[in-house]
Amino acid sequence: MAFHGSKFRLLCRLLILMLLSASCCAKAAETAPQFKDFQSETSLVVPIPQTIETDQAKARLGKLLFEDKSISKGGKKACVECHLSDKGGTDNERLSMAISDQPRSTNTPTIFNVGLLPMLGWAGAGTNLEDVTEAIIKSKHGLASEWPELIEKLNAYPSYKTQFNAIYQMPIKPAQVKEVIAEYLRSLITPNSRFDQFLRGNDQAISLDERRGFELFKSYGCSSCHQGVNLGGNMRSPFGLFGNYMQDKGKETKADLGLFNKTKRPDDQYIFRVPGLRDIALTAPYFHDGSVATLKEAIDVMGRYMLGREIPEKETALIEKFLRSLTGELNGEPL
Ligand code: HEC
Ligand code: HEC
Repeated sequence: MAFHGSKFRLLCRLLILMLLSASCCAKAAETAPQFKDFQSETSLVVPIPQTIETDQAKARLGKLLFEDKSISKGGKKACVECHLSDKGGTDNERLSMAISDQPRSTNTPTIFNVGLLPMLGWAGAGTNLEDVTEAIIKSKHGLASEWPELIEKLNAYPSYKTQFNAIYQMPIKPAQVKEVIAEYLRSLITPNSRFDQFLRGNDQAISLDERRGFELFKSYGCSSCHQGVNLGGNMRSPFGLFGNYMQDKGKETKADLGLFNKTKRPDDQYIFRVPGLRDIALTAPYFHDGSVATLKEAIDVMGRYMLGREIPEKETALIEKFLRSLTGELNGEPL
C-alpha cells in the first residue's frame, strides 16, 4: 500500500487520533503482559524465518563482488565499505562519502533482511534487489561503473570467469552480476532475536521492561506503521503528520522531499517508506538524513511528529528497551 498526498496525510492523522483515544481510555495494564496476551496479534509482528532458501554458489560469488573494490569506477570503492556486517549492515555515519568524495544525500540503511522487503530505499521507490543493485553500480553516487567496462574487468579475472561460468554456463552478463549480488543480499537474514524467541513462545526470552515497551509500542500506535516481519518496510507515510520535521530540524534538503524526487508528483513530497526496525540498536544514526544520533531521540521525534504526542521519558526508555531486543543473529552468530 502506498501512502500519498495531503488527503492521505489527513486520513493518517485521523486514524492515529482514533487509535490514540482508544489507547488513552484503556486501563493501564497492572501486571506485566504475558506471551498469551499477544497471541491474537502475532500477525502484527512475525518472527524472521530461521533459514531462507538461497542458491549458495550465487550468494558466495555475490559476496565476493560485494566486497571487491574493482567493481567500482577506478577500483575506488566496494559495497561493503558502506554496508558493514559488524555495523548492523550500515556504516554508522550520518552520511557516507560517495565515490566522488561528496557526501551522499541520504544515510546508509541496513542490508540485513532486505530480501523480506517489498519496497527498497528510503522512499521505497525500488521494487527488487537486482534493479537496486544495478542502480547503485551505475550511479555516480554509488560505484559509478559502466556495464561494458565492468564485464570486461570481471572477465579479466580468471577466478570470476570460472565461477560465473560454473553457475551459468555462459559468458558473464550484467543480469548475472546483479543476480549473484542480489542473492547474497537475500541470504543476509538476522533471525532469532530475543524478541523473535519471545514471539515463538519463550516467555523468558525478554525482560518485563521489554514486554512493557512492546505494549507501549502497540498502544501508542507505532505498530500501525511499523509492522510485519521487519516491523516496517511494507508501506509509506509522510514524515511529519503532526508538525513539520524538515523545517524544525533547520536546513531542508532535496533528499527531504522523499518519493517526490522519483515521481515529481507534488503529493509525494516528504513521503518515505516506513523503515524496518530489525537490528535498529546497531544502525545509528537514524532517519533518511541521519539527523538524530540516538534511538531515544528517534522515538521522541516519532512520538511528536508521527503521533502528535510527547512520550514521557520513562516510557521512551521502555520502548527503547523493546527495540533493543530486536537484534538478531547473522549466520548463527549474535550481531
Ligand atoms: C557510498 C556508500 C554506499 C555504497 C558504496 C553502497 N551503498 Fe547501498 N546504500 C547507500 C545509501 C546511502 C542507500 C540509501 C539510498 C536511498 O534510498 O536514498 C543505500 C541503499 C541500499 C539498499 C537498499 C536498502 C533498503 O533498506 O531498502 C541496498 C539493497 C543496497 N544499498 C545495496 C548495495 C550494494 C549491493 C552496493 C554495491 C553494489 C551498495 N549498496 C553500495 C550507501 C552505499
Ligand atoms: C505514521 C507512520 C509512523 C508511525 C505511527 C511511527 N513511525 Fe517510525 N517511522 C516512520 C517513517 C516514515 C520513518 C522514516 C522517516 C525518515 O527516515 O525520514 C520512521 C522512522 C523510524 C525510526 C528510525 C529508523 C531508521 O532506520 O532510521 C525509528 C527508530 C522509529 N521510526 C520508531 C518508531 C516508534 C518507536 C514509533 C512510535 C512511538 C513510531 N516509529 C511511529 C513512520 C512511522
